Amino acid sequence: TSNNEDTEKKESIRCLTTLSHFGFECLPYQLVTKSMEQGFSFNILCVGETGIGKSTLINTLFNTNLKDSRSSHFYPNVGLRIQTSDLQESNVQLKLTVVKTVGYGDQINKEGSYQPIIDYIDAQFEAYLQEELKIKRSFKYQDSRIHVCLYFISPTGHSLKSLDLLTMKSIDRKVNIIPLIAKADTVSKNDLQKFKSKIMSELISSGIQIYHFPTDDETVAQINSSMNAILPFAVVGSTDEVKVGKRVVRGRHYPWGVLQVENENHCDFVKLRDMLLRTNMEDLKEQTHIHHYECYRYRKLRKMGFTDVGPDNQPISFQEIYEAKRLQFYEQCHREEEELKKRFMQQVKDRETAFKDAEKELQDKFEHLKRIQQEEIMKLEEERRQLEEEIIEFCKTKAACETLQTQPCTNIKKD
Ligand code: GTP
Repeated sequence: TSNNEDTEKKESIRCLTTLSHFGFECLPYQLVTKSMEQGFSFNILCVGETGIGKSTLINTLFNTNLKDSRSSHFYPNVGLRIQTSDLQESNVQLKLTVVKTVGYGDQINKEGSYQPIIDYIDAQFEAYLQEELKIKRSFKYQDSRIHVCLYFISPTGHSLKSLDLLTMKSIDRKVNIIPLIAKADTVSKNDLQKFKSKIMSELISSGIQIYHFPTDDETVAQINSSMNAILPFAVVGSTDEVKVGKRVVRGRHYPWGVLQVENENHCDFVKLRDMLLRTNMEDLKEQTHIHHYECYRYRKLRKMGFTDVGPDNQPISFQEIYEAKRLQFYEQCHREEEELKKRFMQQVKDRETAFKDAEKELQDKFEHLKRIQQEEIMKLEEERRQLEEEIIEFCKTKAACETLQTQPCTNIKKD
């Protein structure tokens, strides 16, 4: 009987099933929808020697064909080629920016090889900081900060080159570095393992910090830590399709067989793609923002004189610093203005004295010339007077002569 009562009771209870999510449990869905509408962006920097396979790997990773001309080995300086493209996979849109070195490793000057890379990374941080400090900020600002640097190591099978160490050392605090052994199909499997360990020990002994896939999120901790252990990834790139049995795969065809790019026994391409795009893209972007950009911002604002605590270790607000800086700037302007005025007055005085001296000199010259001229005139006057006297004398003599000429004739007749 009690069993019957229980079933009756159960039948009388009205069961309601929820039709959909409600309340704030829907927040994640809102975020997903918003992100899908806005699309995603990702900026990759590829650093590696000319012809090492940078473009091919990017095209293989994103299943695309970014048009690019081959670089020459004779550029005088290292340059950067920037390509942006809008990609779509299912209904997810991705704005991909690939920045690629051009002429890297072809010059003797090593500092000249990595300086343009540092300058570019810093310039993107600076542009972001300037946007952040603007009064009227653009919320559609296209973030150009580099999220990851794929560093292509030459497949020498031996060790890292000094340029590799210098470059990685100078950018490791500015960008997330993922080291890759390029064209890994040119190194045998045994040599590859030794090469990987050699590279890692060289990086550690040089104090170079590469990006480590995060292990704090337990959903990806295991896979990420296993991937950290096999760094650097030995990759092979190819967009060529080759037939293997009945399947068509992307790979490289050799007389002795086919190297399948997406076969995990052949190379680490799939591991790289999973780590870079599927598992850790958001972490790479987050690390760029909260770690690398933050360091740049901190250094820059400190250099500009901003700080969070005053000399007395008391918190000091941005406004207070701004006011103090403004006052300091005003005082400095005032000082410089006074200095400028003083210098100007002195210059005017100097010029005036110089003008006066020149005027006096001219006056003296003029007086001197005037005196000479007067003396000259007087001399001429004297000469004229003498000439006139001579003329008068001459006229007198002439008249006397004429009188004399007429007189002798009458005298003769009288005799
Ligand atoms: P630049 O832009 O000229 O510096 O070259 P890049 O580094 O972008 O190299 P790119 O991708 O143009 O490849 C250069 C040559 O290497 C091409 O002939 C590719 O087919 C070949 N190549 C690319 N990736 C691989 C690889 O993984 N293995 C082998 N064996 N060859 C590759």
